[in-house]
Amino acid sequence: MNELNHIAIIMDGNGRWAKKRRLPRTMGHKKGVEKVREIAIYANKLGIRCLTLYAFSTENWKRPEKEVSYIMSLPKLFFESYLKELMENNIKITMIGSLNRIPEEAKKIFRDAIRKTSKNTGMILNFALNYGGQDEIVKAAKDYARDYKEGKARSLTKESFKKYLYTKDLPEVDLMIRTSNEQRISNFLLYQLAYSEFIFTDTYWPDFTPDDLDKCIEEYRKRTRRFGGLNEEKNN
Ligand code: IPE
Ligand code: IPE
Ligand code: MG
Repeated sequence: MNELNHIAIIMDGNGRWAKKRRLPRTMGHKKGVEKVREIAIYANKLGIRCLTLYAFSTENWKRPEKEVSYIMSLPKLFFESYLKELMENNIKITMIGSLNRIPEEAKKIFRDAIRKTSKNTGMILNFALNYGGQDEIVKAAKDYARDYKEGKARSLTKESFKKYLYTKDLPEVDLMIRTSNEQRISNFLLYQLAYSEFIFTDTYWPDFTPDDLDKCIEEYRKRTRRFGGLNEEKNN
C-alpha cells in the first residue's frame, strides 16, 4: 500500500460555492476557512505528517481589491478562532510563499502562529500564501547563484537544489487534490509535484468533507506509483 505522508490541496471553488447560493464571493472564502479547520483537524487525526493548503497564489493579486483585502483578513479570523484548538491538537503551522506584500496585520498573525506552534510535533499545517511555483524556482536559482558567487555552493544536483525551495524541510508530496473540478495546477508546487498522484474532485472547497478526504485517500492507496520504473513486484 502506498505510503502517505504529505497531502497538498488546491482549495478551489469558494466563489462558485457562494454564487450558487446568491451570496457574495467573500462568504465562500469565509466558509472555506471553516473547512480548513475541519480538514486540518481530521487529517491530523489520520496521522498525515503534512498538509499543504493553497490559500493565495501570486496571481490572485489580480482580483478586485475588495476581494483581496477580504482574503487578507482571513488569517486573523482563522487563528483567532482556531489557534487554541490547533495547539491542543499538537498541530504545527508553517508557510511557503513570500510574506512581502502581505498586509502587516496578517503577517504578524502568521508569524505569531508559526512561533507559538513551532515546538508541536503533530501534523504540519503548511499554508501556501502569496505562493507561486514559478517564483519559487526563480528564487531558488537566484539564491543558488548568490551562494555560488560567495563560495558557499558548488555543484548543483537535484538534492542540493531542493534545499533552495520553500519546501526544503517537508516530506515529498504524495497526493495533490484539487477541488471544484478544475483540472490544472495553477502555479502550485511545480517542482514538487513531479511524481505526486493527482485527484480532482467535483466538490467546491466549502462543501469538501472529511468523508471526501477519506475517498481521495482510498483512491490514492489503490494507485500504482511507478516513479518511472516498472514495479515488477505488483506485475504492473
Ligand atoms: C479559491 O476559490 C480561493 C482562492 C483562490 C483564494 P476561488 O475564489 O478561486 O473560487 P472560484 O474558483 O472563483 O469558484
Ligand atoms: C488557485 O486557484 C489558487 C488557490 C486555490 C489559492 P485559482 O482559482 O486562482 O486558479 P485559476 O485562476 O482558476 O487557475
Ligand atoms: Mg478558483
